[in-house]
Amino acid sequence: MLSKRLSMILSMVEPCDVLCDVGSDHGYLALAVLQNRLAKDVIATDLRHQPLLHTQQTFANANVFEHISYVLSDGIQQVNTKLNTGVICGMGSDLILKIIKQDLGHFKMMSQIITQANTKLPYLRKEMALLGFEMTQEKIVKDGFFYIAQSYHYKDHMIELNEETLNFGYLLNIQEDLVYEYLLSEKASLEFILDNNPHSTKHLHLLSLLKTRLDERVN
Ligand SMILES: C[S@@+](CC[C@H](N)C(=O)[O-])C[C@H]1O[C@@H](n2cnc3c(N)ncnc32)[C@H](O)[C@@H]1O
Repeated sequence: MLSKRLSMILSMVEPCDVLCDVGSDHGYLALAVLQNRLAKDVIATDLRHQPLLHTQQTFANANVFEHISYVLSDGIQQVNTKLNTGVICGMGSDLILKIIKQDLGHFKMMSQIITQANTKLPYLRKEMALLGFEMTQEKIVKDGFFYIAQSYHYKDHMIELNEETLNFGYLLNIQEDLVYEYLLSEKASLEFILDNNPHSTKHLHLLSLLKTRLDERVN
């Protein structure tokens, strides 16, 4: 069974011809994409041999031997097929951005990119906007930790994001208890930072923004 995190990512995949699961590791998402007929063909890449073998094993266990290719590759550097969708999940924002920037032309041609970063979300949102990738959806789940994923579509121009969206994404617009819980945890993190650095104007400003939005939710 897919984890809550991978189920969330799967639910964001738009039907396409060729999807690449970049850094597929165990290959659970890649397999679920094929089994749910969200892509006609899937390419699983990984930088390392061992994870790619895990992916192959996952497919073999499920008796799926067609419409899947395994490519040992840094990002999509060794992928020669035209891709419609790129999924880059379970990594840090720096690595996700490195993978996108090193093959920017290829990523710009895709219909959809899905990211799920474990670190530095505001930085990822900002850099993607500067590259011209418009964030069209965000989702959150909690499975021990909070996991947040974004769906992007390339536009031919830089995307403007206001400070709120850069820092808290589209989650602010989602009226779910889980988002409220997430925002409370963000508030606690900001308060912790401010305990140690009480005059940080940036964090004071973010905390005030967040408090306003939290109050709106309660009232
Ligand atoms: C933590 S796992 C995440 C696996 C899966 N994407 C997920 O979300 O569950 C990260 C995987 O990315 C691979 N990886 C790291 N750097 C990579 C790169 N530059 N290109 C392709 N794969 C990479 C690692 O080998 C590892 O298998």
